[in-house]
Amino acid sequence: ANPEQAQLLKIHAEATKLYHHVLVNTPAGKLALQYLTQRGMTVDLINQFELGYAPDLGADKQILHEYAQKAGFDYQLLRKSGLFVERHDGQLRDRFHGRVMYPIKDSHGQVIAFSGRIFGKKASANTPKYLNSPETDIFNKRRTLFNLNLAREAAREVGHLTLFEGFMDVISAYGAGVKTGIASMGTSFTSEQVQIIARQVKQLNIAYDGDEAGQAAIDRALKLVEDTAPNLNLRVVQLPAGLDPDEYVQKYGAIKFQDYMEHREETPVDFRLSYLRNGLNLKKQSDLIAYLKAALQVIRVIPDPLGQSVYLKKLATEFGLDQGSLERQLAELPQPQVVTPPPIEDNGEIPHGFDPPP
Ligand code: UTP
Ligand code: MN
Ligand code: MN
Ligand code: MN
Ligand code: MN
Repeated sequence: ANPEQAQLLKIHAEATKLYHHVLVNTPAGKLALQYLTQRGMTVDLINQFELGYAPDLGADKQILHEYAQKAGFDYQLLRKSGLFVERHDGQLRDRFHGRVMYPIKDSHGQVIAFSGRIFGKKASANTPKYLNSPETDIFNKRRTLFNLNLAREAAREVGHLTLFEGFMDVISAYGAGVKTGIASMGTSFTSEQVQIIARQVKQLNIAYDGDEAGQAAIDRALKLVEDTAPNLNLRVVQLPAGLDPDEYVQKYGAIKFQDYMEHREETPVDFRLSYLRNGLNLKKQSDLIAYLKAALQVIRVIPDPLGQSVYLKKLATEFGLDQGSLERQLAELPQPQVVTPPPIEDNGEIPHGFDPPP
């Protein structure tokens, strides 16, 4: 980190302490603490993840700005920190008001940004549920994965990382003993993040929310990983309809969650074969034919013939079809193109900040 980046890290570390203090030790944090407790957050988790609260004490009270000025931080640095918004007259106001604060850390555990969640009121166009820091000299969204600093340690033991949709999923899973959880920033999952994951582990488990948006996002994530890091093994854990991982933990508890995450993992082919059924009525002949055609396309991509015949047999059995005719259909499909992407360097370092020029 250059001197300016070091200062940016410092203001983030200070802000983390301040927001955490407000949450756990002050009357201003009482409702936020209640909100988190009602959501099942324990003191241990709140401390481990250094959750905080940015209070809303009226327009004249900007606690972080006042604190940063007293601490002697330079105006230009504060402007670039992403923690403030600049008024027309150049005055800085705190960006976060009345939000539960989730520090976002780099792979070394240093806070580089925040996400702030509203509670007790409805989100709207002007008031997003989660407000995230903008990109800065220390925060590159495309390269950041929430909780990678802790998850990479856990991954060393179990051999995989687990991709969730949200911060709360990562934190609840961690509390429930599934410590390999990471999340991308918002719903977009990037090729940069895939490469960072592929440098750490040989397998990625994807466990997005159990709703339509989650399923569609799984489908996109699988494709992105296959295109970016084809040697990274993939597994999907589909959550029950209507539940995200955090809600699953709250509803069924830690043991059932661990069990679910361990035993419900399926291959990308299994996921796709079930995902393709959405919106189809397989009792209708035209839908069934459309499904079988799409399913053969999925099966075609499986590299080994044995793997292919296992799935063909499943299809044949399920729909009372002749396996031989499915095999002939498959053979008539054009062969998939084999693409060889560039190898991912395994230098053990997780780059942060800026990409070197290609
Ligand atoms: P979800 O809507 O699934 O939120 O969005 P969640 O993680 O379940 O959060 P809770 O349980 O309501 O608190 C998944 C992720 O999308 C990003 C956040 O990273 C969130 O964790 N997101 C969502 C935003 O960045 N902004 C938003 O307004 C909403
Ligand atoms: Mn969701
Ligand atoms: Mn969710
Ligand atoms: Mn949730
Ligand atoms: Mn480093």
